[in-house]
Amino acid sequence: SKYTWVDKDTCIACGACGATAPDIYDYDDEGLAEVIFDGDNNRGVMAIPDDMFEDMQDACDGCPTDSIHIEDAPFNKEA
Ligand code: F3S
Repeated sequence: SKYTWVDKDTCIACGACGATAPDIYDYDDEGLAEVIFDGDNNRGVMAIPDDMFEDMQDACDGCPTDSIHIEDAPFNKEA
C-alpha cells in the first residue's frame, strides 16, 4: 500500500497538486495542500488505491518544494 502526506510547513500553496490529483489533494483556507482522500485529513493514514498511484506520483514529482511525501507505511500524523 501507499500513503501520502503534505508537509504544510514547506508547501507554498502553489496549487499544482490539487489540479494534478484532485481526488487526493485539496487546499485548506490558506491555500495550503492537504490529503483529503477518504477523509484522511492529512494524517497520512488512508491507503491510496493502486489506480491513483500515477496521479499521486505526478503530483509528488510536480511539487516545486518537495512537500508531498509518499511512503509504504502510514504516516500517522496529527490532524
Ligand atoms: Fe503545496 Fe506543493 Fe501542492 S507547494 S500546493 S504541496 S504542489
